[in-house]
Amino acid sequence: MIKFLDEKGDDINFEILTIDLIESIYQIDKECFEVYDLNWDRKSIQDTVLDKNCCTYLQLIGEEIVGVINATSKYDHIRIDSIAVKPDYRKNGIGTRLLQKIVEETKALKLKRIELHVWVDNQTAINLYTKLGFQQIDLEEDYYSVGDAYVMELNL
Ligand SMILES: CC(C)(COP(=O)(O)OP(=O)(O)OC[C@H]1O[C@@H](n2cnc3c(N)ncnc32)[C@H](O)[C@@H]1OP(=O)(O)O)[C@@H](O)C(=O)NCCC(=O)NCCS
Repeated sequence: MIKFLDEKGDDINFEILTIDLIESIYQIDKECFEVYDLNWDRKSIQDTVLDKNCCTYLQLIGEEIVGVINATSKYDHIRIDSIAVKPDYRKNGIGTRLLQKIVEETKALKLKRIELHVWVDNQTAINLYTKLGFQQIDLEEDYYSVGDAYVMELNL
């Protein structure tokens, strides 16, 4: 499932998957996750957005995609797989809004927990998650190529 948000954070009612769209998501991921050495190609992105257990929200500014969040439904909880906002658009509340959309989706599914991994040195993202009420519950060593990850959860 793929959904679009307008500049006010309202859902836009159209759903269209094009090569350009996949390319835009790929470029954001590439730019934002450079440090992680992710083996993420265009095909994986296409598979993710088409997976019925996955939810992708895209933030549009005009016609430009400036932010993306991916989450997967995992039986009794939701797992956030990635969140990224283009550097020029950060610190404007877009990351918060994308996360809040996943919180809303989780509540609508009547699930009570959201989980994610975050690199222990990614203080920006840790601040964002903490601000939204996530708490550190575990540490997974060598989870990323760059090092360890905190497991964080939000109980709803
Ligand atoms: C993490 C990220 C998605 C945040 O997006 P954003 O749109 O800038 O986030 P928001 O504007 O909603 O900021 C919300 C909170 O995050 C934290 N935050 C955001 N930018 C920060 C920064 N540069 N330094 C410290 N904390 C920061 C703050 O707590 C902020 O709240 P505040 O504005 O009240 O201080 C963005 O920085 C990003 O894409 N980073 C690269 C990809 C990444 O690391 N993703 C997470 C992988 S687990």
